[in-house]
Amino acid sequence: MIFMGVVENSKLAIVGAGSVGASLAYAALIRGSARHVALYDINEAKVDAEVLDLAHGTQFTGVSDIVGSKDLIAVEGAHVVVITAGAKQHPGQTRLDLAATNVRLLEQLMPDLVQHAPEAFYVLVTNPCDVLTVAAHRMSELPPHRVFSSGTVLDTSRLRRLLADRAGISTASVHAYIAGEHGDTGFPVWSNARIGSVPILDWRSPESVPPFAAEELDRIAIDVRDAAYKVIKGKGATNYAIGLAGARIVEALLGDEHAIMPVSTVLGGLYGVDGIALSVPSVVSASGAVPVTETPFAADELTLLHRSADTLAASLRTLGL
Ligand code: LAC
Repeated sequence: MIFMGVVENSKLAIVGAGSVGASLAYAALIRGSARHVALYDINEAKVDAEVLDLAHGTQFTGVSDIVGSKDLIAVEGAHVVVITAGAKQHPGQTRLDLAATNVRLLEQLMPDLVQHAPEAFYVLVTNPCDVLTVAAHRMSELPPHRVFSSGTVLDTSRLRRLLADRAGISTASVHAYIAGEHGDTGFPVWSNARIGSVPILDWRSPESVPPFAAEELDRIAIDVRDAAYKVIKGKGATNYAIGLAGARIVEALLGDEHAIMPVSTVLGGLYGVDGIALSVPSVVSASGAVPVTETPFAADELTLLHRSADTLAASLRTLGL
């Protein structure tokens, strides 16, 4: 049942009250992503302060409410658990550099989380989210459609923003995805990128806007790949956009939207990728995240998808996963 646009009695639990977790909670309150939002963090002072600060603003948001605790009771009965806790990238670090530290943290967290929220969907935001998705899937023994990551949802949002600004068109009318690793090997699927129903390379109007040159699209792909590094260099971390991306995924799950999003799930042979989690367009609904099996990839794009898979497989091997 929907009450003032919010799925009644829905509960989102966010693990980690750092900048990403707090931003996700903030976005969820403003967007009404869930009826109840709960923050969990072992740092009692931090989680209590974040919850207080967020609660003080709920007069100006919708019907969603916010609670939190240093105890796992905060996660109890959640319908969606988003995991944001862990070491974050520092300038010069890749996401994969965080793998060993954050897998160890996940090993401590996952069993208790599943015990307190056995029916929940688990969404990994902590990086490297693709590697952590495989780890969480193995640890929890939950099926791939119930434990997945935000993957390249944020990268795709960055791509659509850049294309929309260049074309003078709303992002809502830009249909393009980043696929593969949420990281340096992720890539735009140009072969089926459209502005409206127009293939990206055929985009001509409005007349004042010159067509996209191939070199320009290459530049945009690099800008998407390097976006997080640029933000991290300037402010120490990314948080707002990933918080909004996470809230959007939660809404698609709780609202049974059947929305197509490039979340990262453990593939079982699709596109020749087996046992690795990476992003391809997937249907997100009350059944979880299920890859679209008919997404067409050009031959060079399949090569890039396998490059992502090989990169992630190498990281998993070093972790013994
Ligand atoms: C980023 C982090 C969430 O891309 O990996 O901003």
